[in-house]
Amino acid sequence: MRNIYSNIFKVNKKNLSIAVNYLKKNQLIGVPTETVYGLAGNAYSKEAVKKIYLLKKRPFKNPLIIHYINLQQLKNDVELNSDFYKLYKKFCPGPITFVLKKKKNSLIPSIATANLKTVAVRVPRNKTIRKILKSLNFPLAIPSANKSTQVSPVSADDVVNEFDTSLKFILNGGSCTIGLESTVVDLTSKVKILRPGLINPSDISKVLNKKINVYRGTKIIKAPGMLKRHYSPGIPIKLNQKKAKNNEAFIVFGKKYKKAKNIFNLSNKSNLNEAARNLYKILRLIKKKNYKMICVTSIPKTGIGLAINDRLSRAAN
Ligand code: TXA
Ligand code: MG
Repeated sequence: MRNIYSNIFKVNKKNLSIAVNYLKKNQLIGVPTETVYGLAGNAYSKEAVKKIYLLKKRPFKNPLIIHYINLQQLKNDVELNSDFYKLYKKFCPGPITFVLKKKKNSLIPSIATANLKTVAVRVPRNKTIRKILKSLNFPLAIPSANKSTQVSPVSADDVVNEFDTSLKFILNGGSCTIGLESTVVDLTSKVKILRPGLINPSDISKVLNKKINVYRGTKIIKAPGMLKRHYSPGIPIKLNQKKAKNNEAFIVFGKKYKKAKNIFNLSNKSNLNEAARNLYKILRLIKKKNYKMICVTSIPKTGIGLAINDRLSRAAN
């Protein structure tokens, strides 16, 4: 069944099997995950992976996250260690990505990992993407379904907004429940968080029973994807503002703000999870309304607030 956009399809048996067929033919599709929508392709196919980079206009030096159905499948491509097992047991399937050493006999082409000796792996929780992964005998490379440096999509419409008709098939899984990308944690040496997410440093620290480092985003390490400028709506952003002019979009958090045309509240209940779900939606809306400047109030740096602040400061760069 078709939606108002001819390339958005609802999730049912028939459409899932169409989705699987696209992937088997090394073609790309748009898929929901619990974090953000992704652009999926066969991770073992050079051809499919190349298509991902070209469609996203992503620099080839920025590696992709490979998505698996379970531990059994993931074992084929990466060397596991005890930190991994502990975190996997606690958080997977879920919104966390592990950087691990690539196995010598891994079938992942080097184009997918930007020639690195490591691979970022993730086992997602979203039902729809799990059904697809289950029907395939290869993992999927799934970056966020946006053009390089832009804001990640959190609905099927957002994906259309990014790729228009150049992406023929998008499964509609509704709005993403988390709304920010997965936590990326490097387990190849000293445990380090490369990208904050819903699962935060203290959650990880508790499970591993040690202090862990958080990459602060000032210089390039390991992966060029950690570049400072990212997640950008293409409009200048001023952070930690107390007020905004009427012609500036004002992103706020909490109940003390009045309703006004230019005020966009991430959560009037001061709920950070709700704020995370709303952030990309609001940035997209502000862009659509043609604002030329965005001001943002300060957002608490606890829980997923850390990730919200991370994305805002990169968007502001
Ligand atoms: O939540 C998510 O992770 C979403 C959904 C679709 O699963 N995917 C996603 O992928 O955010 P992407 O490609 O937009 O972001 C992948 C990040 C990049 O910052 C990239 O640099 C980093 O993961 N990455 C990938 N492979 C890496 C590696 N081997 N070492 C370090 N970082 C890596
Ligand atoms: Mg991305």
